[in-house]
Amino acid sequence: MKRYRRLRTTKTLRNLVRETTLSADDFIQPFFVVEGTQKKESIASMPGIFRYSPDILIGAVEEYVKAGGEACLLFGIPEKKDAAASQAYALKGVVPTAIQRIKKEFPDFLVATDVCLCAYMDHGHCGVMHNQTVDNDKTLPLLAKMALTHAEAGCDIVAPSDMMDFRVQRIREELDKHGFLNVVLMSYAVKYASAYYGPFREAADSAPQFGDRRTYQMDYANSREAVKEALQDIEEGADIVMVKPALAYLDIIASLRQKVNVPVAAYSVSGEYSMIKAAAEKNWVNESDIVLESLTAMKRAGADIIITYHAQEALKWLG
Ligand code: PBG
Ligand code: ZN
Repeated sequence: MKRYRRLRTTKTLRNLVRETTLSADDFIQPFFVVEGTQKKESIASMPGIFRYSPDILIGAVEEYVKAGGEACLLFGIPEKKDAAASQAYALKGVVPTAIQRIKKEFPDFLVATDVCLCAYMDHGHCGVMHNQTVDNDKTLPLLAKMALTHAEAGCDIVAPSDMMDFRVQRIREELDKHGFLNVVLMSYAVKYASAYYGPFREAADSAPQFGDRRTYQMDYANSREAVKEALQDIEEGADIVMVKPALAYLDIIASLRQKVNVPVAAYSVSGEYSMIKAAAEKNWVNESDIVLESLTAMKRAGADIIITYHAQEALKWLG
């Protein structure tokens, strides 16, 4: 029998035996980008997060870089939505413009982009509508075109979040065909239909105008399905697989970590962020403590990468 408290006696000892640590290398900070200039719009349900036009975004990125940040994930919000999501693959669209701006000023800063059509479709679904449902195979070429547009603008990672079958393969083929052999494909492989996306849909103006996303996003009651989805995406060419949301899905992160040999990303989504912000505003929880505890839990569960709206503040708190 041992006195296990012995290793907890001092901060130095505790640090020495700590199994899991967080650093800037772990984080990806999402940014929302809108068309136009001189825009910095607040998002009611996500205090501290803004929608920036590309010219103002560059200042926000600079701040993040100064805080030690190394990577971002871009979400575009176009002015014009239609039934073909035409702005999603427009060469001068909001995301390509933002990528070019960022890469010009910060060539080493990693830029990942979300690839999905919902913010660009007038109906708000993640694919092409046909006979009242989202048509999987009709959606694939549009996603491939969108990913290619981002690659041409200079992004490092494309991250498809639509949950159509075979989109990873289709996007990989398109990128390779055009010579973008080194653009990384981070698949939202395990994405559940979740109430935790609520604040994001306000931020990105991407709520479905009718129905829900349950015919393409996964049922949160299922865990074996996560393994199935991740393995197939890897086979199709995914370099990194993601689990989303994160905090309520640590079991899924842990199980994927055991079963796949590629990096696993965890996306701590908008609802997770907003819940902490709301409780912290009321002084019901200590914000920095609860954020670092939550992010550490994701890493402890097996995440190699954490996508979180808290990234910039977490870096400040980590010191
Ligand atoms: C687009 C997309 C969503 C999120 C990331 N990409 C919304 C959705 O699927 O409805 C959610 C991110 C968040 O809540 O922070 N498909
Ligand atoms: Zn979508």
